[in-house]
Amino acid sequence: MNNKYDFQILSAPNNGHVYLDSAATSLTPKCVTDKIDEYYNCYNANIHRGIHDWAEQATEEYEGVRPVVRKFIGANQDKEIVFTSGTTHGINTIANCFCADWTIKDTVILSEAEHHANIVPWQQLKVRQGLTIEVIPLLPDGRLNLNQLHTVIQQVEGRCIISMSVLPNATGITLDYRQVSEVARDYGATVLFDGAQSVPRVKTDVSYCDFLVFSGHKIYGPTGVGILYARDGFLDEMPPYMGGGDMIKSVRFDHTTYNDMPWRYEAGTTNIAGVIGLGAALNWVQNIDIEKIYQHEKEISDYAQKQLNKINRVSVLYPDTEKLGLVVFTVNEAQSSDVATLLNTQGIAVRSGYLCAEPILVNQVGRGVLRASFGIYTTQNDIDRFINALNKVMTVL
Ligand SMILES: Cc1ncc(COP(=O)(O)O)c(C=O)c1O
Repeated sequence: MNNKYDFQILSAPNNGHVYLDSAATSLTPKCVTDKIDEYYNCYNANIHRGIHDWAEQATEEYEGVRPVVRKFIGANQDKEIVFTSGTTHGINTIANCFCADWTIKDTVILSEAEHHANIVPWQQLKVRQGLTIEVIPLLPDGRLNLNQLHTVIQQVEGRCIISMSVLPNATGITLDYRQVSEVARDYGATVLFDGAQSVPRVKTDVSYCDFLVFSGHKIYGPTGVGILYARDGFLDEMPPYMGGGDMIKSVRFDHTTYNDMPWRYEAGTTNIAGVIGLGAALNWVQNIDIEKIYQHEKEISDYAQKQLNKINRVSVLYPDTEKLGLVVFTVNEAQSSDVATLLNTQGIAVRSGYLCAEPILVNQVGRGVLRASFGIYTTQNDIDRFINALNKVMTVL
C-alpha cells in the first residue's frame, strides 16, 4: 500500500521527510483539505440558524457527516453521534455529565497505560466529589491483567465505569476490548472506550461499549474536531457540559429547556469546517478499506519492531508483543530528546518524551522514550531510512 500521492505535504518539493509521528497527528489527504476549502470558499455560513442558501448548504453538509460517522463505527442512530473538539473533550464530557453526581462509592476503572486525557478528568472529579479511581496494571507482556480487573470490579459498591484506551499510545498493544466489555456487562458497569489510536486502524464496533471517543486529526482529518458516541439513553437526561446557543430549545431568565441529543452537547458554534473535513476523511478511509489499513499498519509495525530489536543499544518496550501503529523504544546511554533531535537533522520525524502518558512510562521505563508511529502512507522504505539514520545517530551519541 502506498497512498503518498494523496498527500500534498509528502509530494512537496522539499520532501525527503520521513514522517513517523502519525500517532500524534496523522497527515491530511488533499481531498480533505479541498473539502475544507470548499466550505470556506463556497458556502461559508453558520449552521442551524439561517434560512438563506449558504446557511442551508452548510447545515446539510454538517448534518450529512453524522450518518457517515454512524456507519463507520457501527452505531444505530444518528443522534448517538456528538461532534466534539476531540478525544479530550469527549472524555471530559462523560466525566462531567454522565458521572456528574458520582461520589466515593462510585468507581472509574482505568488501565495503567492511559493517556493523560483519560486520567486527569477523573482526578478532577475525584477532587470535587470523591469518586474512586482504580488502576489495573499491565502484565509483563504489556497486556491488561484481566484477572485483576475481575478482582477490582467485584469490590465496587456503587456505580462503575471502565474507561480504557483500545490502543494505548504509549504501548501500541491492542486492549482485549471484547473481554473487557464482557467483564463490564457481567457486573453492570458502563464502558467508555478511548478510540483515539484504534479507530484509525481497527474496524470499530460500538456494540462493545456505551461510549466511544476519538479525534479527527488522528484519522486523516482536521484538528479541533472529534466524535463522542453515546449509546441511546445514556446522556439524554444528563446535565449538558456547556451552555449556550444551539444546545437549547427555549431560554428565559428563570429557566432553560435543553435541546435533544445530539445538539444538547454541541453548544455554541462548533468546528463546522472541521466536521465537514472529518466527513471527507472518513469517506476516504472507507474507500481504502479499514481492513487493508489494519493489515498494512500491522506489517509496518512488525517490520519496524523487528529491525529495532536487532540493534544492540536499542530497548523496545514490550519487545516480543505484537504492535499496531507504533513502536516505543529507548537508546541505551542516550537521551531520547538528543536522539530525536539528531534524527530530525536527517529528515526523520519521531516523537520523544513521555508521550502524554507519564504514569506508565515513569513506572515501566523510568525516563523519556522515543516513538515511531505509522500511517497509511508509511512504507518499508521509510522504516529502512529511519533505521539507517538511527544507526548513524548512535555513532555520535
Ligand atoms: C490514546 C489517546 N487518548 C487521547 C488522546 C488525546 O487526543 P486529543 O489531543 O486529540 O484530544 C490521544 C492523543 O495522543 C491518545 O493517543
